[in-house]
Amino acid sequence: MSSRERSINDVRGWLRGLEVFSGSLPEFAPEDAPEDPVRLFLSWLSDAVADGLRDPHAMTLSTVDEAGDPDARVLILKGVDTSGWQFAGHAFSPKGHQLSVHPRAALTFYWPEHGRQVRLRGPVTPGSTTDNAEDFLARSATARAEALLGRQSQYLADTAERDQALEKALAMVGKEPSLVDSAWTLYTLAPTVVEFWQAAASRVHSRLRYERTATGWGRFPLWS
Ligand SMILES: Cc1cc2nc3c(=O)[nH]c(=O)nc-3n(C[C@H](O)[C@H](O)[C@H](O)COP(=O)(O)O)c2cc1C
Repeated sequence: MSSRERSINDVRGWLRGLEVFSGSLPEFAPEDAPEDPVRLFLSWLSDAVADGLRDPHAMTLSTVDEAGDPDARVLILKGVDTSGWQFAGHAFSPKGHQLSVHPRAALTFYWPEHGRQVRLRGPVTPGSTTDNAEDFLARSATARAEALLGRQSQYLADTAERDQALEKALAMVGKEPSLVDSAWTLYTLAPTVVEFWQAAASRVHSRLRYERTATGWGRFPLWS
């Protein structure tokens, strides 16, 4: 029996044996954190970029559907400023429907090599027509053509039908490069809560929660 087969026969033991938070980890002193979570987030993100971490701007977007059931998927972060954290998607996709019914969401970032997690929650608003169009036009031709199909997450019965539709959409994008899909949306999540979580080799992890107040942000260290 190979070691891989042995592992699969004892999934619990195999998982228990896997390491987490290995290697050296950065220090985090919540008492020295800036007043504004945007600054701290950008400094953690730039650490991830500087150290060559893979897909440092990928994050999990969690939403809730009509029935109250949660859903989640990975998206790319499109921007961060004082108005919030931005991501983009198709309004007719499941996430787009969910956000139109419950315009609130959570975002989760995880940079494993740094043992860092950031969690945000808050209301989500769609962008203006101009912002949506600008984001759409910055995408690759194939990504624009795919969006124009407007069929994300629908059942795919026939790959040949998809390939043909994509080819047609690509030709359309080639002929009319300024063509914009009016359902493409740049969303902004304006967090009411942002939590920074730093793993420590000692397993006494550090957590700092920012809560939005009428005038700015409150900062609260949390038990790990
Ligand atoms: C690293 C990564 C980045 C992604 N970025 C996006 C994105 O920016 N926008 C998007 O609509 N889907 C993106 N996706 C695909 C989504 O995870 C998801 O499959 C798709 O949006 C359909 O989700 P929905 O059915 O919940 O609407 C990305 C997937 C991965 C793995």
